[in-house]
Amino acid sequence: MVLPLILNKKPLASEIQEKTKKKRKNKYIPGLAAMKFRPDDDWSKLKAGKIHNSTLHNLGKYDDDQIYFIDCIKGMKELPRECIDLIIADPPFGLDFTGKESIYNRNSEFVIDDYGEVKGDYYNFTESWISEISRIMKQTSSTYIFSGWTNLEAVLRSIREAGLTVLNHLVWQYQFGVFTRKKFVTSHYHLLFVVKNQKKYYFNKIEHYPIDIWDIKRDYDQKKKKNGTKLPLKLIQRCIDFSTKPGDIILDPFLGNGTTAEAAKANYRHFIGFEMNEKLKPIIENNISSIELGQDYSKYRDRLPTPEDLKRKYPLAYKIYKSI
Ligand SMILES: C[S@@+](CC[C@H](N)C(=O)[O-])C[C@H]1O[C@@H](n2cnc3c(N)ncnc32)[C@H](O)[C@@H]1O
Repeated sequence: MVLPLILNKKPLASEIQEKTKKKRKNKYIPGLAAMKFRPDDDWSKLKAGKIHNSTLHNLGKYDDDQIYFIDCIKGMKELPRECIDLIIADPPFGLDFTGKESIYNRNSEFVIDDYGEVKGDYYNFTESWISEISRIMKQTSSTYIFSGWTNLEAVLRSIREAGLTVLNHLVWQYQFGVFTRKKFVTSHYHLLFVVKNQKKYYFNKIEHYPIDIWDIKRDYDQKKKKNGTKLPLKLIQRCIDFSTKPGDIILDPFLGNGTTAEAAKANYRHFIGFEMNEKLKPIIENNISSIELGQDYSKYRDRLPTPEDLKRKYPLAYKIYKSI
């Protein structure tokens, strides 16, 4: 049998060179992608401030940059459909919590009364507020929902039933777990990253390799009055940075001490908050007014390590980066 000539054909030197070049190009060089990384969207501080000041939102009978002391389910029902860019929800976890329990090692003098814990069935409560968020989210919106692990099942079920999709099951790792004798210390919150439209949701990739475990320290001010569940500003800011643009409107249905409103204002975003406990009013107002508009905003690119910062860890990547 005569073999087709093509089988015997040797590759040309130029073909080999081209192949090796391609191979080298595709080869994984640790650190190189991080050096080349740029955020998808970025705005100078001046531009972000201008966008913020010129953006208006239609919230029906409500105004942006305001807090309302009402039940969030009533409040959300009265908002127009698809009017919110981002929701950050840190509901009561259904643990009979008051914030004054001695196990938390807090001075109860500094903890505000009337924490709105869930009375009755946790699933019914969760289903009623999650079905509302789905109505008011825009197609481009996301929601971040905090949950303990004991009632996580009710939260996941309500999300599913509302037709929303969980894209990440993030974990916030903290340092104030309660001491245990015969089991492990709980030292995390679940943080569910949820979207309405998987094809249209806004996500600004501002870091090269953003993993799903967030190790963020709690802001610690023992002498300040608060309800016992204040989240760190940095934790909320991270949700805002990845999932909104300057000028966007962020809703927190369970505002607590006002952390979401503080983080929004500090980063040129608008906010609206609902909170049932009117005793928190002076604390929230004081927290928000102590923030300067845009005080924590900086270009995302300026927060990243530079190639020079990464040089010591990745010398080969640095050499290649410089030669490109
Ligand atoms: C876990 S705390 C939120 C803490 C907040 N993330 C912070 O950083 O301060 C939950 C808050 O939701 C409030 N709350 C409970 N049920 C509510 C409801 N149906 N509507 C509005 N607020 C509610 C509670 O009074 C409490 O202040």
